Amino acid sequence: MRKIATGVLMVAFMSLAASALAADKPDWAFPVTDKTPPATLPDDGKAKAAPGSDRAYTRAQIEDLFNPPDWYPAIHPAMPNVVAHGEPPNVRACAACHLPTGTGHTESASVAGMPAAYLLQQMDDYRTGARKGSGSMLAIAKAISDEGNKQAAAYFASLKPRAWIRVVEAETVPKTYVAAGNKRVIHPDHMFEPLGARIIELAEDENRLLNRDPGSGFVAFVPKGAVEKGRALAQAGGPQACASCHGENNRGTKDMPGLAGRTPTYLVRQLFMIQSGERAGVGVEAMKAIVAKLSTDDMLNLSAYFGSLEP
Ligand code: HEC
Ligand code: HEC
Repeated sequence: MRKIATGVLMVAFMSLAASALAADKPDWAFPVTDKTPPATLPDDGKAKAAPGSDRAYTRAQIEDLFNPPDWYPAIHPAMPNVVAHGEPPNVRACAACHLPTGTGHTESASVAGMPAAYLLQQMDDYRTGARKGSGSMLAIAKAISDEGNKQAAAYFASLKPRAWIRVVEAETVPKTYVAAGNKRVIHPDHMFEPLGARIIELAEDENRLLNRDPGSGFVAFVPKGAVEKGRALAQAGGPQACASCHGENNRGTKDMPGLAGRTPTYLVRQLFMIQSGERAGVGVEAMKAIVAKLSTDDMLNLSAYFGSLEP
C-alpha cells in the first residue's frame, strides 16, 4: 500500500517537473523566411564570381536546385549524381543546401563526416515522419531511390569536417531578417540590437552565402559566458558526459554523430526537437533522458560550447 502511494506520488512529481522544465521554443534557432521582408536581394543579372575560382554563375543558375554551383571542384571528391543534381522532380540536389563540401548553411545542417549508417537512419526517420523539422527533407526522403540514398550517405561520410563556424561572445549584434530560403541576412537599416538570450548566426561574407560558395563560413554570436557554461554542462557527469557517446572531444565515432564545430543553431534545434518529441527516431532513445530537463538557456549554452570546438 505504502509502496503504491509512493509510486503514484513519484509519477505525479515527475510529470510536474517535466512540464515545468520543458524549454520554450527558441524561435531564433528556427529561421523562417520573412513574409514582408524589409528588402529584396539585388540581382543585376550578371554572373557572380568567387575568390580563386575560375567559374561564374548567374543568380538564376545559383538558384537552380537541380544544378547548383560547384565553385571549387578541387576541394571535394567527385560528387555522385544525386548530390550534384538530385533525382528530378522531387529530390533536389543535396549540394544545393548542404554544399558540395557537406558543411551546409546554418538553416540546414553540416553532414560532412557523419557516419553513413547514421545519415541513412536519419533519412529513414524523415521518410517515416519520426523526425520532423524540415519540410524539404521529409519530401526528399520519401522520394529518393535506394541507390541515390546510399550514394549520398557514402559521399557525405567520406568528407572531412572543416572549421566552418566562429563562435563569438557578444552583447549586441547587427539587426537581421530572414530572406528567401530561410537565410538570415543583415537588415538594410544597418542598425545594431541587443543579442539577449539568443544565438544569431551571420555569414562571414553575405554575398558568398547567397552564392552558395563553400569557401566562406559563418560567425555565431552567443551571449557572454555561454561557452564556459556550456562546457560545464557538457562535462557535468564527469569529463566524459556528452563525449562518452559522442566520442573524444565530441568529434563523433564510427557510428555516432559528432557535435564539435557544428552550427550552434542546428544543435539547438535538435536538442529542442528531441525534447518536444518532434525528433523521435529509434536512435534518439539514448538522448531522451539527457535532454528531458534542459531549459532553453541550457540548450543555447551547450550548443555555443560545441560550436566553439574544433571539428
Ligand atoms: C532544400 C534544402 C535541402 C536539400 C536539397 C537537402 N537537404 Fe538535407 N537538410 C536540410 C535541412 C533544412 C536540414 C536540417 C533540418 C533541421 O534543422 O533539423 C537537413 C538535414 C539533413 C540530414 C540530417 C543531418 C543530421 O546530422 O542529422 C541529412 C542526413 C540530410 N539532410 C541529407 C540530405 C541528402 C542526402 C540530400 C540530397 C538527397 C539532402 N539532404 C538535400 C535541407 C536540405
Ligand atoms: C548514451 C549516449 C549519449 C550521450 C551520453 C549523449 N548523446 Fe547525444 N546522441 C546520442 C545518439 C545515439 C544520437 C543519434 C540520434 C539519432 O540517431 O537520431 C545523438 C544525437 C545527438 C544530437 C543530434 C546530432 C545531429 O547530428 O543531429 C545532439 C545535438 C546531441 N546528441 C547532443 C548531446 C549532448 C549535448 C549531450 C550531453 C549533454 C549528449 N548528446 C549526450 C547518444 C548520446
